[in-house]
Amino acid sequence: MKQTRVSQVLEIDYPILQGGMLWLADAGLAAAVSNAGGLGVISPMAGMEPHGDPVKNLEEQIVKAKGLTSKPFGVNIPMDLRDCGLLMDLLLTQNVPVAVTAAGDPRLYTELLHSGGVKVLHVVSSVKHAQVAEAAGVDGVIVEGVEAAARNGFDELPLFSLIPQTADAVQAPVIAAGGIVDSRGVAAAMALGAEGVQLGTRFVAVKENIASQRYKEAIVAAGDTDTVITIRSLIPSRSLKTPFTQVLLELENAGASVEEIKDFMGHAASRRGGLEGDLENGEAYCGSSGGLIKHIIEAGEVVRMLVDGYAGVVDSLK
Ligand SMILES: Cc1cc2nc3c(=O)[nH]c(=O)nc-3n(C[C@H](O)[C@H](O)[C@H](O)COP(=O)(O)O)c2cc1C
Repeated sequence: MKQTRVSQVLEIDYPILQGGMLWLADAGLAAAVSNAGGLGVISPMAGMEPHGDPVKNLEEQIVKAKGLTSKPFGVNIPMDLRDCGLLMDLLLTQNVPVAVTAAGDPRLYTELLHSGGVKVLHVVSSVKHAQVAEAAGVDGVIVEGVEAAARNGFDELPLFSLIPQTADAVQAPVIAAGGIVDSRGVAAAMALGAEGVQLGTRFVAVKENIASQRYKEAIVAAGDTDTVITIRSLIPSRSLKTPFTQVLLELENAGASVEEIKDFMGHAASRRGGLEGDLENGEAYCGSSGGLIKHIIEAGEVVRMLVDGYAGVVDSLK
């Protein structure tokens, strides 16, 4: 797989990123991906108790990751987290190589992070937001299509439309996320103008992920029509179709208010689904290409599979 500006800037072997995953992306997973030549990414609340302290948890995870890999790794900061400022401080004091910011304004922290030598990638789901991120000086934009697990953009743009329009509109390197599971997806994203890819769901169904076995097996069992977008009035989110999403859809169809939906979901719904495997009472995020995932394998194997298959896909197009 060729070097791109993404692999060069991030100083990694392959432009393959493991996406942040709120309660799941811990040091063990991130280190496994980084050791395989991609960029592993830690989430501040990975493995944490429902009402734990994300700042303390993240510090522990960063220290652990440094012990498990000497390669660059990243930290994902959803900027709507209450302790966002403290988490950013931690990235600086811990000399974290890469910040992946999301769900907020990239103008707030990019300059500060750069002043401490932290590279910054920002997650967007429209051309306009990619331009805002570029103007803020980010090192790359991660464009996330509606195929992606978890939160989607309000305009629900598919990746096939989003990549080329963004690549034409910004100079910053584009990293594609949403529905990419194998080397066909990587080659397609690169053909459309991406210089890197970010995978989420594929890195849930891996041995190192702390997600519950029941959730991983549900992803492996999923077919093409087994995911659904819910809570559009809050923030569109793609999950496996479960009894939980069924109730959410019924509430939405009945015109429930945002408060009623929040009441039903309760605190840490994706922790219950993802970490505890309680698919009846929690969210089980899954991208629309979950149907391509047939086995629970090691994270490093995912990276190797993407890299090894890439040349064959490109050759087949000649
Ligand atoms: C369980 C889970 C939790 C996620 N949580 C976050 C998050 O906290 N922050 C974020 O920026 N993206 C989050 N994502 C999105 C991923 O980082 C990634 O962009 C997305 O999963 C890509 O789409 P795919 O799942 O089809 O590969 C999450 C994805 C999953 C599967």
